[in-house]
Amino acid sequence: MAGILVTRWVFPEVIEALSKRFDVEQNAQDRPWLAEELARRLRDKAGVMATVMDRFEEAILARCPDLKVISNIAVGYNNIDVPACTRRAIRVTNTPGVLDDTTADLTWALLMAAARRVAEGDAYVRRGDWKIAFGVEAFLGQDIHHATLGIIGMGRIGRAVARRALGFDMRVLYHNRSRLAEAQERGLNARWVERDELLSQSDFVVVMVPYSPAVHHMIGAAEIARMKASAILVNSARGGVVDDAALIEALRARRIAGAGLDVFEGEPNFNSGYVDLGNVVLTPHIGSASRATRLRMCEMAAANLSAVIEGRVPPNLVNKELG
Ligand code: DGY
Repeated sequence: MAGILVTRWVFPEVIEALSKRFDVEQNAQDRPWLAEELARRLRDKAGVMATVMDRFEEAILARCPDLKVISNIAVGYNNIDVPACTRRAIRVTNTPGVLDDTTADLTWALLMAAARRVAEGDAYVRRGDWKIAFGVEAFLGQDIHHATLGIIGMGRIGRAVARRALGFDMRVLYHNRSRLAEAQERGLNARWVERDELLSQSDFVVVMVPYSPAVHHMIGAAEIARMKASAILVNSARGGVVDDAALIEALRARRIAGAGLDVFEGEPNFNSGYVDLGNVVLTPHIGSASRATRLRMCEMAAANLSAVIEGRVPPNLVNKELG
């Protein structure tokens, strides 16, 4: 039986199914191995099921001559040097589609929590600071209904975010390399605009682009300066797309009203400047974290991995030139 490595705790039913076909070595803990330990355990394996916290670069690939597949339990794969894998004929796979709605839901949770100051209010009540039953001026936030939502990155998750805006009678602006078909734009009540126009017109700016060096700090001080003073920025895509230092500075100076963030540069060691700010809602990279979706992602990753090792084309191949 071919040996495979699963770098994290995953659902027992997934491990059980894999164990019928492969010799499975698993990290029983839901925390990443250090790079050296990962490299050592991977040395003689044919496949690995991994998360975005496991990095696969040339140096580690060179130590794993038998490796045929890296199956990410994620739609993103910026933890993997894909060209280096392709050169070594290592298939890279991901889990697109199944997490779109769940991630869009979390994006909306952040948007709404930041707009209506939910986390601030929760902390206030728990601290025992709530002394006046109803304050006319207390916790004033932003309206969501009838506001303008700007989405940067109109892929599957961006469109799922836009669909939810219909229920709030929002105007949707979007910026994307390619435009949606006219019928799709009409269906989503969405209009393509240049990025600067989106930034200056939107009440809520949602960043939904996959990470690549080309979008590193795509939202920095200059972009934030274009936003309305009442605007809220939401990032549930990838850390590094937003310049955290610039955003912290803007939130501190109230140059924008607030932010909702699920992802951070260098996570989990994020910029601690966020911690003391009341006008930002923080979650620990949980965009796809519903039970049903995470199970589906693990099942997809297992199916991708099995296909490669058994000599079939995996359903979700990233380096398609190896297909
Ligand atoms: C993804 O699927 O890319 C999510 O961010 C989980 O890592």
